[in-house]
Amino acid sequence: MSGSTLEIKDLHVEIDGKEILKGVNLTVKGGEFHAIMGPNGTGKSTLASAIMGHPKYEVTKGQILMDGEDVLEMEVDERAKAGLFLAMQYPSEISGVTTSDFLRSSINAHREEGDEIPLMKFIKEMDAAMDYLEMDKNMSQRYLNEGFSGGEKKRNEILQLMLLKPAIGILDEIDSGLDIDALKVVSKGINKLRNEAFGCLIITHYQRLLNYVKPDFVHVMMQGRVVKSGGPELVERLESEGYEWIKQELGIEDETVGK
Ligand SMILES: Nc1ncnc2c1ncn2[C@@H]1O[C@H](COP(=O)(O)OP(=O)(O)O)[C@@H](O)[C@H]1O
Ligand SMILES: [Mg+2]
Repeated sequence: MSGSTLEIKDLHVEIDGKEILKGVNLTVKGGEFHAIMGPNGTGKSTLASAIMGHPKYEVTKGQILMDGEDVLEMEVDERAKAGLFLAMQYPSEISGVTTSDFLRSSINAHREEGDEIPLMKFIKEMDAAMDYLEMDKNMSQRYLNEGFSGGEKKRNEILQLMLLKPAIGILDEIDSGLDIDALKVVSKGINKLRNEAFGCLIITHYQRLLNYVKPDFVHVMMQGRVVKSGGPELVERLESEGYEWIKQELGIEDETVGK
């Protein structure tokens, strides 16, 4: 199976009447890993939320297409069904719903009625993925994200990714707050997903994660736009020189948006 294509064309997004995204263009295809880098406050999370249809984010111009289908016309659950998945910067805690039940419902929400995943098959897959991510099995019986450490929450996002197998995964600062061991495990999980049917948008502030998960394409966001794109060599340059040279090159004084 070949992958899907997510196309973002001239995307403009407002929050509370203030324009945050000012014309983002980006195409992610199955098999490709794209990194979106950039300082804080440049619109990276806004892009992720807009793709997933967060109600606070109003698209005022441009298009988001998934295999040519208009994503902006889809409800949030339809976007997930179309193969989009967002691992959030700050995953929500859901009291009263166990991690295991949440995962099984999510998988079944992607399947037709009457074709639910058999319980034993689900448990086998979940156990295998949890082993791979070096997670404590008891976690599956705990309420979703409740009392989870930062590292546990992020592993849990990758666990969802591994079980749901979306066509396009968007990972927003999956590396934030992780110690080096957790970072390696999370990276191992992302790398395991690399195949022709999976495209990934990795949003990160730091190059650290990208030492473990090698992107094919790298984009830098400033002022609510992608201002620079390149290959993995861009990560090295940002690591050694920071973001200042891009600002100078483009004559940007303040890289943030929405102030
Ligand atoms: N839910 C929100 N409500 C109000 N303002 C927001 C919201 N989300 C983002 N913003 C504003 O949009 C700008 C870009 O934020 P964000 O997309 O989170 O940047 P990044 O992820 O690159 O750090 C900031 O000025 C921020 O205050
Ligand atoms: Mg962010």
